[in-house]
Amino acid sequence: MTSTEDLRERVAEQLRRSRERSTVLTSIEDDELVRQHSKLMSPLVWDLAHIGNQEELWLVRDVGGREPVREDIDHLYDAFQHARADRPALPLLSPAEARGYVREVRDKVFDVLDKAPLEGSRLVDHGFAFGMIVQHEQQHDETMLATHQLRIGAPVLHAPDPGPAVRPTAREVLVPGGEFTMGTSTEPWALDNERPAFRTHVDAFVIDTVPVSNGDYLAFIDAGGYDDERWWSERGWAHRTKAKLVAPRFWERDGDRWVRTRFGVVEPVPLDEPVVHVCFHEAQAYARWAGKRLPTEPEWEKAARFDPATGRSRRYPWGDEDPGPEHANLGQRHLRPAPVGSYPAGESPLGVRQLIGDVWEWVDSDFHAYPGFAAFPYKEYSEVFFGGDYKMLRGGSFGTDASAVRGTFRNWDHPIRRQIFAGFRCARDPRPDEVG
Ligand code: AVJ
Ligand code: FE
Repeated sequence: MTSTEDLRERVAEQLRRSRERSTVLTSIEDDELVRQHSKLMSPLVWDLAHIGNQEELWLVRDVGGREPVREDIDHLYDAFQHARADRPALPLLSPAEARGYVREVRDKVFDVLDKAPLEGSRLVDHGFAFGMIVQHEQQHDETMLATHQLRIGAPVLHAPDPGPAVRPTAREVLVPGGEFTMGTSTEPWALDNERPAFRTHVDAFVIDTVPVSNGDYLAFIDAGGYDDERWWSERGWAHRTKAKLVAPRFWERDGDRWVRTRFGVVEPVPLDEPVVHVCFHEAQAYARWAGKRLPTEPEWEKAARFDPATGRSRRYPWGDEDPGPEHANLGQRHLRPAPVGSYPAGESPLGVRQLIGDVWEWVDSDFHAYPGFAAFPYKEYSEVFFGGDYKMLRGGSFGTDASAVRGTFRNWDHPIRRQIFAGFRCARDPRPDEVG
């Protein structure tokens, strides 16, 4: 096989995998598909048709140069024209129509994939436009998974649990100070905000080898952390008061213990699992209470990619190979994070684990462009969000597909959001005796 045929086959495989997942996530009763399970989310049937519409815009019309399939519905599925809360009232495609629409678009896309050149313009080089659409579908699949977590009712999703963990020996490690390469200019499917690669200096810092666990977080709750203004930023305290925060989202007191609801199952909070469904303000308050802080985005990426032996930045913490099941909890294989200390094969050269997968990690940085940034192929993916009220999240969660996360991948959300699969790990400045 030529390398182009090989690339076509890999693209086709990724398209099939993303559609299989979208199908699982939308295989519920029609009334559940059209209902809005939370004001924060779209009805699932909107996500489905929006996936098809983006695919039509970029692959059928733009790359393929074909006639539109349903130009008349573009406005319904343009995320900038209607806020999530307003989407249920729109004349959306019915579940049957949405399924028919995405199938029709996909059939045309397979035809385009057979014939389109995969080089010669930045949009198609290395199959970029196809990769962007695969990632877009997988991103919405994670959004739909978050909608499932917000849905009230008997469980409809099922998956095996991850295995037990072996805790690493060190609780924290020192990342030496100095320059490293952040971002990428070579990763073929990297999105615009990850580009270009640039050298940046990061002072020496200490970072936890594992994410903060439910057990750790419970100690903060039990110590009265939610009622102690000292640990919270001014904004965080105001939000905690207004929103009456007392514990992570989906936790409930049951006598003298805490239980949580996970995709419709009520269970005791597992102490050894990374905490999830906390907002940025809660993460920051926990870190201050623990005498630490959140890492910044450059610190997180240096911990995840920098190899002190060679001085170069890796694609992933474990090296340059694509993620396998031994490296990280990704791809909705499990419907929960794995216990802290899992995936020793996925650790970084300095011994930091679970940077990729399990839970998105809040970092203490705002969303901004890297030096030399250029919006590509459209401003509405990243550029319109720069400078907004967002905090960055890195590393992906159990709900993120491997195709939709990299060592360089950048995610963002409002600092008050808790419906995403987000936790965090702590960092701190080194003591003088630690840096020598
Ligand atoms: C990068 C996850 C913040 O879901 O809002 C999906 C991805 N952009 N459709 C989002 C996205 C357009 C985006 N995030
Ligand atoms: Fe989208």
